[in-house]
Amino acid sequence: MSTSEVAAGVTAYWDARAPRFNDAASHVRTPDAWQEVLAAAFAADGSKDVVDLGTGTGACALAAAGLGHRVRAYDGSEEMLGVAREAARQAGLDVRFVHSLIADASLEPASADIVTIRNVLWTLERPAEALEVARRTLRSGGRVVVSDGLWSVAPGDRSDYTAELAHRLPFHGGLTESDARELLRSAGFTEATAWQHLFQVPPYTGGVPAFVLSAIRV
Ligand SMILES: C[S@@+](CC[C@H](N)C(=O)[O-])C[C@H]1O[C@@H](n2cnc3c(N)ncnc32)[C@H](O)[C@@H]1O
Repeated sequence: MSTSEVAAGVTAYWDARAPRFNDAASHVRTPDAWQEVLAAAFAADGSKDVVDLGTGTGACALAAAGLGHRVRAYDGSEEMLGVAREAARQAGLDVRFVHSLIADASLEPASADIVTIRNVLWTLERPAEALEVARRTLRSGGRVVVSDGLWSVAPGDRSDYTAELAHRLPFHGGLTESDARELLRSAGFTEATAWQHLFQVPPYTGGVPAFVLSAIRV
């Protein structure tokens, strides 16, 4: 299986899952809690340029737009983007949704103040590459906000990728906070700050350990 076949397999999975993705999603059950935690992690003074990588149905993009930021959001799955665009329309929020794999996204270097990557690193063959895209896209002093979880703890929250596909994803079982800190460090970001303690109730069911980290591009 080539790298492009891995990406195509992941995209096909999310295209098929798009109509049902929001049914049980944490951001749909507790959107206000997510928006508050993201607002804290953004630590933004005024309106900022935000890029959401692997936006899916647009949860982080919509939260950021709702906070008054200018948002561009990228995803490889046209079906997930269709749900995101409709959600933005219904909410009256202006987000530029772009159909593109993260590695291929035409992102102007140093064009963003904040890059968000939520629940995407686990499903990438090369998670470090996404953090490199984030680093390149951020202005000096800009901030990446990464959130994910150890999905193997709750089998119901896991993908049912084929074994061949899952085998190619280094974090298919999910990431710990310490895995993400190490990835951020290796990508050249400052030591990360954690924000998940701000959730009053755990964001995911099934006891999935989840984190929200921010780190600065130096
Ligand atoms: C679990 S969903 C998360 C969606 C959203 N970030 C959220 O937190 O609700 C993973 C998303 O990543 C997207 N994705 C996976 N690999 C990608 C890649 N290489 N480039 C762009 N999008 C990708 C999938 O299409 C899917 O929409």
